[in-house]
Amino acid sequence: MLTLLKLLKDGRFHSGQALGTALGISRSAVWKQLQHLEAELGLSVHKVRGRGYQLAKPLLLLDSAEISAKESCEWPIHIFDSIDSTNAEALRAIERGMGAPFMILAERQTAGRGRRGRKWVSPFADNLYHSLVLRIDGGMRQIEGLSLVVGLAVMHALHDMGIAGAGLKWPNDVLVGDKKIAGILLELVGDPADVCHVVLGVGINVNMRSTDEVDQQWTSMCLEAGRDFDRNELVGRLAAKFQHYLRLHQVSGFSAIQEEWERYHLWQGRNVSLIAGINQVDGVVMGIDRQGALRLKVDGVEKIFSGGELSLRLRDDS
Ligand code: BTN
Repeated sequence: MLTLLKLLKDGRFHSGQALGTALGISRSAVWKQLQHLEAELGLSVHKVRGRGYQLAKPLLLLDSAEISAKESCEWPIHIFDSIDSTNAEALRAIERGMGAPFMILAERQTAGRGRRGRKWVSPFADNLYHSLVLRIDGGMRQIEGLSLVVGLAVMHALHDMGIAGAGLKWPNDVLVGDKKIAGILLELVGDPADVCHVVLGVGINVNMRSTDEVDQQWTSMCLEAGRDFDRNELVGRLAAKFQHYLRLHQVSGFSAIQEEWERYHLWQGRNVSLIAGINQVDGVVMGIDRQGALRLKVDGVEKIFSGGELSLRLRDDS
């Protein structure tokens, strides 16, 4: 099915006969595969008698040669047409003994994972689903604030691509205004005090225009800019930002990044509720500390919060 898609991706008309010959199958088998493409991947195909078949819009698929041509990337890149989750595949690859660092990308995820058990909507060839695996052997200091560092790198990649309004929300959402444009999910295996691997999972809404499936306010690069983006260029930009910020973090620790992170924190000084499962704490955001934990003024007293399962909401009176 994906071989057929690769023949059609130029957005031109292709006759059923030519497609059948290229694939070594009959015209009716081509027709069946096209039906499948539309149903399974949500793509729309124009069928015109006498001319053949044409994708409603050309597809720019992920391509490691294109990525490396745009930016030098330090890590090997593995691209999947379809996978359950790039984070899950990264964890399996670590288990198989694949040497880190490496990067997993996918055109779509059938079981994309979000934070706090949510699903991450991952339609085919629209968005970026990206997992970078690092080996950590420098102890807890190398993990401290890491998810915030990833957020900063993602935000800067978006700025470089022209999404000037992108900012941060503690701990690791990237928003434009109140709408989420990117999400980050870190997963860790091994002993963080000794040797471990960390999977930096990043989902960026790139060319997605509509979906009924996302249950929170969202936006995408194309909705913000009014044009489609080349995801290969975005991967290259992201790799460059990762290379810079991960090195800074490794050499100097999170404290070297704290001030810059706060500068881009959209909810600085806002009235928020901090949600931890069924518990809620109301307060005012003062900033973050040298480890990336949240500083919240609660009833006039500063309190510190950290942990992957925490999330913030704005209070009505903010
Ligand atoms: C969030 O809930 O905000 C985090 C979303 C993280 C989604 C990305 S997409 C690539 C990687 N693979 C996954 O299954 N999840 C992350």
